[in-house]
Amino acid sequence: MQVLAAVFLSALALSDVQAQAPAPGLTLDVLHWWTSASERRAADQLAQQLAQAGVLWKDAAIPGGGGMAAVKVLKSRVLMGDPPDVAQLIGNTLTDWADIGLVLPLGEVAQRQRWAQVLFPTVLERVSYKGEVVAAPLGLHRINTLLFNQRLLAQAGVAPPHSWAQFEAAVRAVQAQGGRALAWSDEPWQVATVFEALLLGEAGADLYRELVVQRRPAAWLDPRVEAALLRLRWLRSLAAEPPRERVWSDNARALWQGQAAFLIMGDWALGELLAWGAQEGRDFGCAALPGTTGMHLYSMDTLAMLRGPRDRASVQETVAEVVVGVGAQLAYNRIKGSVPVRRDIDPAALGPCSRDSWETFASARSQRLPSLAHRMAADETIKDAVAHTLWRYLTQAQTSTQETQRRLAAVIRAPSAER
Ligand code: BGC
Repeated sequence: MQVLAAVFLSALALSDVQAQAPAPGLTLDVLHWWTSASERRAADQLAQQLAQAGVLWKDAAIPGGGGMAAVKVLKSRVLMGDPPDVAQLIGNTLTDWADIGLVLPLGEVAQRQRWAQVLFPTVLERVSYKGEVVAAPLGLHRINTLLFNQRLLAQAGVAPPHSWAQFEAAVRAVQAQGGRALAWSDEPWQVATVFEALLLGEAGADLYRELVVQRRPAAWLDPRVEAALLRLRWLRSLAAEPPRERVWSDNARALWQGQAAFLIMGDWALGELLAWGAQEGRDFGCAALPGTTGMHLYSMDTLAMLRGPRDRASVQETVAEVVVGVGAQLAYNRIKGSVPVRRDIDPAALGPCSRDSWETFASARSQRLPSLAHRMAADETIKDAVAHTLWRYLTQAQTSTQETQRRLAAVIRAPSAER
């Protein structure tokens, strides 16, 4: 990161010289990875809200679920001295960029809009770094989400499962009807997304924190990690066709069209179903993944305002102000499948799945756990190493569960060893 910082700052200086009389404009270049139907609509909704405030959103979308490609493009644009004005920067990637001075502090907006009072404390903490507010929070996704096709469950005569025993019984009933139980993808980031939700269910919140937040290597040898890995393999075996890397929105479509009864995915899949006109309660429903009721495994989308050759600070502040406002929060999150980051909204305005997500996140009794697969708990390198280890475990049958636990223990580094 230090080398990157030096290159970035010199690139910035160079472009300062090159820039011809930079005039603060109202058009902002926004880099993000929202390209599916619902993601696109959600981004368009933000663009509309901003247009009302006189800010024009110039789209720089980089396709690729989970942001794998977008994060790389951002890095190369920064190195070339051409950072976007606004970027979807989340979790540890955000703090890494803040650390090298790339990100505009948003303290004044936060003060004006009383973020300390209106945002969930966890949200404010996640957008703060070294005492500064460094990004505008957009929405909270729940990773431990199980989506199901209502019609297939009704045909199989089963209720939505809340335990693994019920889930297994539902799988057998769906299969007995000739149906496919689970939509599956071998994409490493999707495998990691499913795994961390299983891990939370098996391990419980305390061990999950030891594994993923404190990142104690020895904890990865625990039998509960083994149980989560075995369940991951079992789930993949339900795919009922040679498993392959499928785009996440194709799996949401398979669920909607009745080609699969269940999908385990972050609730952006809920947004996707809604975008195609599916109705919650009639066509599909959702529940917390078995073993994770009352827990919220979250990924938070945030927009960071990047420093660049032109001074756009006041327009960038307007962006932060608009996206955290109640109107944008409700309209955007309803489309995106995530929930508002504010604690002062009326949850009755949300659909059943989102209401449960928001209420669980809000409850003093619930557990809020950061997602590893979506950069809330570790940097890009650790996240990728974990995803790759899981992918190998699934795709290479000879890799044993114990060996995989040892590999996971080896790729997990304690937070203090990161920089
Ligand atoms: C982001 C979501 C996005 C999903 C799929 C997650 O990392 O937080 O906003 O919809 O990836 O691309």
